Amino acid sequence: MNTQITLQHQGLDCPLGDGQTAYFNYFWLRDNCPTSFDSNTRERVFDVFGLGQPPRPERADISADALEIRWQGEEHVSRHPLSFLRAHTAPGPRRDVADLSRKLWYGDHYPDIHRFSQPALMADPALVKDWARTLLEEGVAIITDMPGDKEGLSGTAGLLGYIRASFFGDYFDVKTHINPTNLAFTAKALEMHTDLPAEDLAPGIQYLHCIANTVEGGNSLFLDGAALAEDFRLSNPEDFALLASTDIPFYCEHEKFDMRARQRVIELDRYGAVSGLTISGHLADVFDLSQDYLDRFYPAYWRFGQLLTDPKYLMRFRLNAGECIVFDNHRIVHGREGYTASSGDRHLRGCYTDRGELRSTYRALSNKGETA
Ligand SMILES: [Fe+2]
Repeated sequence: MNTQITLQHQGLDCPLGDGQTAYFNYFWLRDNCPTSFDSNTRERVFDVFGLGQPPRPERADISADALEIRWQGEEHVSRHPLSFLRAHTAPGPRRDVADLSRKLWYGDHYPDIHRFSQPALMADPALVKDWARTLLEEGVAIITDMPGDKEGLSGTAGLLGYIRASFFGDYFDVKTHINPTNLAFTAKALEMHTDLPAEDLAPGIQYLHCIANTVEGGNSLFLDGAALAEDFRLSNPEDFALLASTDIPFYCEHEKFDMRARQRVIELDRYGAVSGLTISGHLADVFDLSQDYLDRFYPAYWRFGQLLTDPKYLMRFRLNAGECIVFDNHRIVHGREGYTASSGDRHLRGCYTDRGELRSTYRALSNKGETA
């Protein structure tokens, strides 16, 4: 077996025992010495900034399937298993069970929405994992048999993450308010939108628990923004590029708050695929781009907006009391038909958790989350 290590100026070439040789930077090797990590907290306890000089080997050898480096100027030997080095020869994030392909869906998806009974979820982590996977892949699920109290909603959301407060507090009630601070709190139709685009980071996962729905009208409207935008990329590539690269202003302003943020209509993930949308006609601020730029932007924005009511994408259904629809607030665009407030009761209670915690919960439940 080739055990010839070549020391270079900033790193070394190390034979990996499989016929391959790979280059590793000295800082990286010193920083990621196995002794750098605390076995209990799994956190790095070595401080690379505490090195008095850039790390250089005094000597380096292969011994018992490991690269051993004695470092100059410190009484320290690093011992890197070759298996660890082999796993890091190519750049890129480590394997992630939560990095799942999106399953795009269209207007006929309602009968196929995955449904989970709330009491069963509370009792069975394997079901919670299935629920989390559904949200990662499809962006929407319905929870049935919801308890009617507040604890029912917070307990359900708590299975996936900590409730993430907004400027409405830990949760919000969607019903007709006497002094509404938001169009949602009226009986009017609610155009297709994603929630709270005026926040720097809009909430990731939204829960809407239907406590009562006996009114005439008020159907729920949902669509998969990723499916819509991926089609739009093919049909209108220049428009797509514009919407994926232009920051537009959103606001949410009332007596006690004045939230403002800039967002892109189309959000892309690190692979360049559509991971979400930010759409809200009622919370879009006056576009402050140059009028020449708007000559290009507005037509693209308008053409895209035409698709938000296209039956190809739009899922229309009645949310029933005892159901809670859970969805990715970035990917899934939602709205509501108007209703007659005097015809009965309509009461939805909502809250949010974040996307990162959803992925974290899925990894932990998959029992495959790799640790440092
Ligand atoms: Fe909403």
